[in-house]
Amino acid sequence: MDSHFRTDVGALRNILLRCADERRPVLAVVSVLGTTEEGAVDQIHRLVELQAEMRRRGLEFYHHCDAAWGGYTRTLFYAGKGKPVGTPSAIREITQTWPSDEVFQSFSAIHRADSITIDPHKLGYERTGVVLSFGPGACARTCARGNHPENPHPAARHKYLLLRG
Ligand SMILES: Cc1ncc(COP(=O)(O)O)c(C=O)c1O
Repeated sequence: MDSHFRTDVGALRNILLRCADERRPVLAVVSVLGTTEEGAVDQIHRLVELQAEMRRRGLEFYHHCDAAWGGYTRTLFYAGKGKPVGTPSAIREITQTWPSDEVFQSFSAIHRADSITIDPHKLGYERTGVVLSFGPGACARTCARGNHPENPHPAARHKYLLLRG
């Protein structure tokens, strides 16, 4: 963990390099988009790059993003009619200081995780439920269902599953 309560990407890289060296399999890396206690946002953009680097080195693992708390805030990243907001300053016009440039980059990269969870019963103000979203790569790799149809809209690149508790 770094001094901002986020995954220390450099430290994680060293661990993964060691695993690759020792040929030890890694099942998954789980990132968090808004931790319960600190509201810390992992650097998702760096983690997806790290996953790609490790894949090139022969170490394959699954990347799940726990966006149970933060996921709904992603709705602020659309200006309307599904048009993505290009810069964090457009959001700061509403929220004043949030998101920082780096948090903006993290949120903008969540569709590159293999799967995401979002809790409607947190910032969605729903009574209950959880949304599980699987990216096309994850489906191809883990479910052997073939390729997801290509769609330029990031959200549409995932398969959604709404579970009601
Ligand atoms: C970041 C995060 N992930 C997962 C959970 C689990 O949520 P639940 O058991 O309410 O679906 C929580 C709950 O606080 C959370 O904050």
